[in-house]
Amino acid sequence: AYVVTENCIKCKYQDCVEVCPVDCFYEGENFLVINPDECIDCGVCEPECPAEAIVPDSDDKAAAWAQLNRDYSGQWPNITRKGDAPADADAWKNKPDKADLLSP
Ligand code: SF4
Ligand code: F3S
Repeated sequence: AYVVTENCIKCKYQDCVEVCPVDCFYEGENFLVINPDECIDCGVCEPECPAEAIVPDSDDKAAAWAQLNRDYSGQWPNITRKGDAPADADAWKNKPDKADLLSP
């Protein structure tokens, strides 16, 4: 499965949502997650993310985020259409240490 990681926080561009063939993204206030049981590993979302937040779960960067994607995908609503990104999304792009800013 693919995993959404820290770079998505407060960027939430949602380009990923538009391309997913199985609609397995789930939406929080300032972050999205992938349901790993629904993801078919097609990989098309990975290059679509302007923040480079999506990685395969085999990636080192995925380790801290895989369980979080699993947990929140069971709690948050499904999202299948791209909405507006936050107005200050570009200002948060590539900022380090955003993990504590995730809104549950
Ligand atoms: Fe959806 Fe494919 Fe991305 Fe998995 S890898 S979340 S199935 S677009
Ligand atoms: Fe987040 Fe990138 Fe999707 S910023 S909402 S994973 S396009």
